[in-house]
Amino acid sequence: MKRLLILVPLIFSVSASAFAASPTEQGRALFLKIGCSQCHGTVGQGGAAGPRLAPEPMEWEAFAQFVHNSSDAMPAYREKILPDLQLKQIHSYLQSIPPPLPVDQIPLLRGKK
Ligand code: HEC
Repeated sequence: MKRLLILVPLIFSVSASAFAASPTEQGRALFLKIGCSQCHGTVGQGGAAGPRLAPEPMEWEAFAQFVHNSSDAMPAYREKILPDLQLKQIHSYLQSIPPPLPVDQIPLLRGKK
């Protein structure tokens, strides 16, 4: 019995870590699933319906404050609907988005000489 008590949590922690996606990956999945990307673009680049969010998203405090309360232009996602734990994952995803390449490193946009 004692052995079983030791084994069970061990199995749980091993399987949880084997299958759990990183916060950043979970944040990306959420960003797409709950529709932020519909207005802000799949990599937060912005679009007709919402401004650019990444790279360099706003600081966490202001970010959470805005998303939970929002303005008239964006639906608010109250903490009951989108808890901070999940919103932090979304923020982590937005933080992970790299800046775009400089124009002169994009072959199609490089000026012809
Ligand atoms: C229906 C379209 C729509 C959806 C869906 C949406 N947003 Fe927005 N979002 C907007 C618009 C429009 C603004 C600009 C609001 C303003 O300036 O008053 C905005 C602004 C923001 C801002 C502030 C950006 C800044 O620089 O001021 C953040 C952060 C943000 N959205 C995050 C999110 C997240 C996270 C989600 C998903 C949980 C989301 N939005 C879903 C339309 C949307």
